[in-house]
Amino acid sequence: MQFENLLVHDEGGVRWITVNRPAKLNALNTSVIAELGQALAALTVDASVRAVVLTGAGEKAFVAGADIGEFVGISADAGRELARRGQRLFDAIAALPKPIIAAVNGFALGGGCELAMACHLRVASANARFGQPEVKLGLMPGYGGTQRLPRLVGRARALELLLTGGTIDAVTAHAWGLVNKVVEPGELRGTAQKLAEEIVAVAPLAVARCMEAVAVGLELPLEQGQQHEAMLFGLCSATEDAREGTAAFLEKRPARFTGK
Ligand code: COA
Repeated sequence: MQFENLLVHDEGGVRWITVNRPAKLNALNTSVIAELGQALAALTVDASVRAVVLTGAGEKAFVAGADIGEFVGISADAGRELARRGQRLFDAIAALPKPIIAAVNGFALGGGCELAMACHLRVASANARFGQPEVKLGLMPGYGGTQRLPRLVGRARALELLLTGGTIDAVTAHAWGLVNKVVEPGELRGTAQKLAEEIVAVAPLAVARCMEAVAVGLELPLEQGQQHEAMLFGLCSATEDAREGTAAFLEKRPARFTGK
């Protein structure tokens, strides 16, 4: 796959997608959004890929936001369409049946913070900074930031970031539950790859259904969430991987999962 603004390579069942506009701190312009959509579509059909890591090129930024140049003087209709386009992409990321880990290697601001939040897991380098600075531009988040941030860190902390436009460092983001791990910059890629490989080693259908159960259940009352969980558990129970995993445990041997 060749892209103008993305680098893509595979490493042990893990697809690495790197947003590659370092001179613009990897800001998300129309082309990056379209290419991320294409890269995502390719993922769903490629069975050899079992997990994804998304990162940014260069030392400084994961993604420093949506490309501010594309917001100048646009109408309300164009603004709404721009937001919906980003939301469609980020929803597709969140709904991906393969886990996608954001390896946040620097600034994750605005659309970059929203992109990281759409991913299932986040690991950050110690120099990462997170925030939704849109109010400083007279704007507000439009790629899900006002919705995913309070769901991840709670209303008060989310409003603090949203209303001030301020940023937090990686350690604070970790304390707030926004990121799973913080590591030194030189360890970020290895940490993300190792985390992805841990997931690649287990049963892929079970992984997909865990993600679905959490995503669906968080929007439902507990009882309905549990009904959905039971339905998914039923589907999992009848898979070849469940037969293999339980048999391997009882026979004291490693399981060989096939995703069936
Ligand atoms: N959209 C478009 N271009 C951006 C960008 C964005 N979101 N973020 C950075 N860039 C560009 C800068 O314009 C600059 O381009 P230039 O060299 O052609 O002038 C280049 O990336 C480097 O950024 P610069 O501002 O010089 O780096 P810095 O280290 O001084 O500051 C930031 C880094 C992240 C603090 C600063 O770039 C910034 O505030 N960016 C915007 C963040 C934002 O508001 N995001 C939400 C957008 S909705």
